[in-house]
Amino acid sequence: MLFQVKKVAALLLLATTFVGVSVAVPTTQVQLNTYTYTNNVFSGQIYVENLAYTKVVKVIWSDASNNWSGSSTNAAYYQSISGTNYEYWNFNTTIGSAGISQFYISYQVNGNTYYDNNGGSGKNYVVSTTTTSPSTTTTSATGSPTATPPSGLSSWITSENAISNTFMYNNINTPGSATGFIVASPSTSNPDYYYSWVRDSALTMHVVVDQFNTTSAKNSTVANIIKDYVTFQAKTQTESTPCNCLGEPKFNPDGTAYTGAWGRPQNDGPAERAITLMQFADSWIGQGNDPSYVTNTLNPVIFKDLNYITTVWSNSCFDLWEEVNALHFFTLMVQRRALLAGANYAARNGQSNNYNSVASSISSKIDTFYSSSNGYITYSQNYNSGINYKSSGLDVAVLLGAIHGGMGDDFYTASSDKILATSVHIKSAFASLYPINSGTTVGVAIGRYPEDQYNGVGTSQGNPWFLATTLYAELYYRAISEWKAAGKITVTSISQPFFAQFYSAAKAGDVYASSSSQFTTVTTAVANAADLFFATVQKHANADGSLNEEFDRSSGFSTGAVKLTWSHAAFITAAKARSGKPVF
Ligand SMILES: *[C@@H]1O[C@H](CO)[C@@H](O)[C@H](O)[C@H]1NC(C)=O
Ligand SMILES: *[C@@H]1O[C@H](CO)[C@@H](O)[C@H](O)[C@H]1NC(C)=O
Ligand SMILES: *[C@@H]1O[C@H](CO)[C@@H](O)[C@H](O)[C@H]1NC(C)=O
Ligand SMILES: *[C@@H]1O[C@H](CO)[C@@H](O)[C@H](O)[C@H]1NC(C)=O
Repeated sequence: MLFQVKKVAALLLLATTFVGVSVAVPTTQVQLNTYTYTNNVFSGQIYVENLAYTKVVKVIWSDASNNWSGSSTNAAYYQSISGTNYEYWNFNTTIGSAGISQFYISYQVNGNTYYDNNGGSGKNYVVSTTTTSPSTTTTSATGSPTATPPSGLSSWITSENAISNTFMYNNINTPGSATGFIVASPSTSNPDYYYSWVRDSALTMHVVVDQFNTTSAKNSTVANIIKDYVTFQAKTQTESTPCNCLGEPKFNPDGTAYTGAWGRPQNDGPAERAITLMQFADSWIGQGNDPSYVTNTLNPVIFKDLNYITTVWSNSCFDLWEEVNALHFFTLMVQRRALLAGANYAARNGQSNNYNSVASSISSKIDTFYSSSNGYITYSQNYNSGINYKSSGLDVAVLLGAIHGGMGDDFYTASSDKILATSVHIKSAFASLYPINSGTTVGVAIGRYPEDQYNGVGTSQGNPWFLATTLYAELYYRAISEWKAAGKITVTSISQPFFAQFYSAAKAGDVYASSSSQFTTVTTAVANAADLFFATVQKHANADGSLNEEFDRSSGFSTGAVKLTWSHAAFITAAKARSGKPVF
């Protein structure tokens, strides 16, 4: 998300210039590349940013009983890394009889000291008796579904859920902004996310509306927060905007349109907003509140959005990452859902419409995104403009389409065979792409798409995203709920590779009734694998539990916009799916 379009030309130039440079250097000043510890010899290689001629790079370790008595060795310059401002430094030392259990790296330069402690305090590199470097091991066992989630994970999820809820609410109605403003992140520079995106706001408010419908039913504080959101959105619908349409993607804190260059329109926003507001209207009425609020305030906003979708759905527009102007699987999925829910809602609200018939045209179009030769759903088609290097066609946006556009009707929902097949391809791509995924004992860290160049601030190399990683946990748990509701699991030739990850004997045509041992085997292993994705988030979250947009593909440190509202909202919906009650 949040990619500034006017940078595209410069970016393409950069990408071309650097073709041939294959070394992925870190974005931090110092970073372990590889290490080994065998026969008491501890050696390895470190990436060091060349900040000055005089540098001291030390590796510091604790003994076998984890006593930090000051054992260390100096690393030595080995060679520079061509095309970058980084160097390789090597170390090689013999560990005495006291042994080694953990280590970290310090780098002193220009009077500053930088550290690589594998993701923060308490997270040093842990050395086993015979160990091989994370980045030299093969990735086949990465995030193996048979690995065990860390003990205490459930209670961590409970506390992180509460923390996410706090950080999410902190970003709603931020001081000094117009009523109902929901900031994407409090970050005001590098990157500046101090805006309200229609999409991020609607997906966040979807979580709040779900709370109003369940745990916070009849809570007037929560109801007023949602009404503030409605006030802000209703105003933006009538603002004059550069696109002069409801697909304008982002607004300033005072509610006026952002008028700089941007990827517009983005026609998923009105659909997500309509879905959220229709659910609020139904809860509002279901709880016996004043129906005139729905008639006079909510319905005009909702029907504007639904009518807009009927006129634009077949046009290309920018995607949810704001980078590609084309026809998108994700966008069509949320538009279809909005119209199908809208047809039902309009009928109950006495509004004549063509929503069902347009939704059926959208469904037919969505069916054309699956590539049987690739075995997965391609994220977009009819490329028009924007970045043009997404050659694989793989993108977690497709899986987000299942979550935010799924309607429990088996049309590209979490348990549908094409979605499951797509999830396998995307996960494998990231397993081998990101250094932190090598030899990891948690789930694969997932990014947006393999060719991503946005690093959270500018362009170099993409990183894993918190919301993309929690998305896998949510997808798996939603699939489990759907299998339970169906009373069976059906393996098709398309989904067989998904099931083979968890049950090697799975073959096309198998049907596992909910009473069968295979059903238990598969659902247990999928839940386990989902928990490993939560464990990935646990490993890389900030110490205070806040979630940035991204975490670094090499160091695992948080990077990009801090306290991203969507990261926290996505954590909450994943935790709800784990509890067996996915957000509707
Ligand atoms: C840690 O190691 C140092 C140096 O060998 C030793 O003096 C100290 O007693 C050790 N501490 C513990 C708690 O074993
Ligand atoms: C480390 O030093 C030992 C002893 O000099 C040598 O045998 C070994 O090859 C060295 N290892 C590396 C990776 O340089
Ligand atoms: C209503 O929700 C708010 C915000 O979540 C919470 O602080 C408050 O305690 C709730 N009120 C009641 C009566 O449950
Ligand atoms: C939850 O939403 C449904 C409609 O989706 C509605 O029928 C029900 O009354 C709502 N429940 C509460 C507690 O708001």
